[in-house]
Amino acid sequence: RRGEVSCSSSSSHLLRRSYSSESTPERKVAVLGAAGGIGQPLSLLMKLNPLVSKLALYDIAGTPGVAADVSHVNTRSEVAGYIGEEQLEQALTGSDVVVIPAGVPRKPGMTRDDLFNINAGIVKSLCTAIAKYCPNAVVNMISNPVNSTVPIAAEVFKKAGTYDETKLFGVTMLDVVRAKTFYAGKAKVNVADVNVPVVGGHAGITILPLFSQATPKANNLSDEDIVALTKRTQDGGTEVVEAKAGKGSATLSMAYAGALFADACLKGLNGVPDVVECAFVQSSITELPFFASKVKLGKNGVEEVYGLGLLSDYEKQGLEKLKPELLSSIEKGIKFAKEN
Ligand code: NAI
Repeated sequence: RRGEVSCSSSSSHLLRRSYSSESTPERKVAVLGAAGGIGQPLSLLMKLNPLVSKLALYDIAGTPGVAADVSHVNTRSEVAGYIGEEQLEQALTGSDVVVIPAGVPRKPGMTRDDLFNINAGIVKSLCTAIAKYCPNAVVNMISNPVNSTVPIAAEVFKKAGTYDETKLFGVTMLDVVRAKTFYAGKAKVNVADVNVPVVGGHAGITILPLFSQATPKANNLSDEDIVALTKRTQDGGTEVVEAKAGKGSATLSMAYAGALFADACLKGLNGVPDVVECAFVQSSITELPFFASKVKLGKNGVEEVYGLGLLSDYEKQGLEKLKPELLSSIEKGIKFAKEN
């Protein structure tokens, strides 16, 4: 038995090695808004990702410095910086994954929807360019309000005739990251073991963590604890906005979450099996046209959108409460894209 175990573990080790050295495909990732608060640490984290062979850093200002800096890190990818609209074509051409953290962040007292007027236009112009220069790329939308910017992107792609619903994702990973951290702290379990699905959307009450499905199960949490954990997850962004007192919103934790999600997309594209994460996607699991839930990521993007599973009564109420707000944010995005 011993012999068998060591034999199988060494052959799987060999498989892993040959996978990571010889057969890792070339993958180009573009970061749009790369010189920003999220963009910079996200660019660094993408530079650390061995699945990336080319890293294109695009912004309207500041990218030459960020690219020069990040390019000195001794990892696989080749880094290039692009600045201004005239270089957007070069930045995007050949991209497999485009991550978009471009746009203004919140200040204290603002909701994500307050960002709509500025960020809707930015997202629309960037997606118009994506449709032209890398229509097959997987798009990871970070720019807020995600509940509206994802529908805007979908409309832009539809107009251009390039829309593929399996390749457009609103990044809600930070909500998952927060839910895991807060749950582990409260339940006193190892955070590395924790899984919590977060569904709905990405703003206030539209963020619905499903703690009834959290693993490992915690028997030491009361109903009040679950309510408090839910609220803290929903208000996690605001907690950071207030602590930063006018200097923006989450950037470091968002870069981490964005890098994790982009990595999951790359793994899916590369054919790694069973890559499942939560994201805001076109969906038919509720009556809303876009919804965040667990999705399986594969060679073409979304392979399967999973249903919500069993919900507690508290979660069922949360689900009904979030629908009108989420729908109105989705419709606002669609209307903007149709009228502009
Ligand atoms: P920031 O202001 O620090 O950086 C934004 C960057 O976008 C700047 O470098 C700016 O030059 C660039 N930019 C503006 N217009 C552009 C254009 N047309 N093309 C390319 N780049 C352009 O903002 P921060 O903190 O990095 O936040 C970025 C966005 O991410 C905000 O909309 C924020 O609300 C959102 N966000 C989303 C989260 C999520 O969970 N999905 C979490 C935290 C923030």
